[in-house]
Amino acid sequence: MKTLTIDIRKAEPADAASIADVHHEAWQGAYAGIIPHKALTKMVNRRGSEWWASAIRRAATVLVIEIGGRIVGYATLGKNRARELPQQGEIYELYMLPEYQGIGLGSRLFAAARQMLTAHGLKGLVVWALEENDNALAFYAGSGGRDVAEGVEVFDSRALRKVAFVWD
Ligand SMILES: CC(C)(COP(=O)(O)OP(=O)(O)OC[C@H]1O[C@@H](n2cnc3c(N)ncnc32)[C@H](O)[C@@H]1OP(=O)(O)O)[C@@H](O)C(=O)NCCC(=O)NCCS
Repeated sequence: MKTLTIDIRKAEPADAASIADVHHEAWQGAYAGIIPHKALTKMVNRRGSEWWASAIRRAATVLVIEIGGRIVGYATLGKNRARELPQQGEIYELYMLPEYQGIGLGSRLFAAARQMLTAHGLKGLVVWALEENDNALAFYAGSGGRDVAEGVEVFDSRALRKVAFVWD
């Protein structure tokens, strides 16, 4: 039997192309039918491997999860951007390839991202998710998050509601 190792680590510029692929597939999978097609295509295309390489170099914290050496998910994290919320940390993005969802890997990546925020001295954590993204809402509620705030994000001319989950 072949054993596959699971590894979570900080991304390096050499990971950029793989992260761009995960971003592309996960965003199409999560948002097709929610975010208007044109806006979604534009957002995905904007973030090719060069964009990711530069994000990683600019010291944005990007974590990747690898299975048997293949990157199957990523998270980005840092300081909370919403001044009205007291939590200091934020997970900006948490995305798994569709075929690797629902098998516990997102929870592991989420736990690692939380630990990294704590290690950076950031207390408490916020995550925003689109209200129509049922999977994400179920995931964050199931991971102990409290939904405390709402906002709106406009994609082309479509306004979509978003929900903030927090952990203290
Ligand atoms: C949301 C996401 C990161 C969760 O990661 P995951 O690996 O699929 O989730 P896990 O397998 O670790 O699930 C953990 C818990 O979340 C909940 N959950 C996950 N997927 C769910 C789903 N499709 N429906 C309902 N609950 C779900 C369950 O409560 C599960 O608990 P369980 O182990 O007791 O069943 C992942 O599904 C994903 O990338 N989705 C698409 C992109 C996305 O929406 N990202 C978040 C944007 S804000």
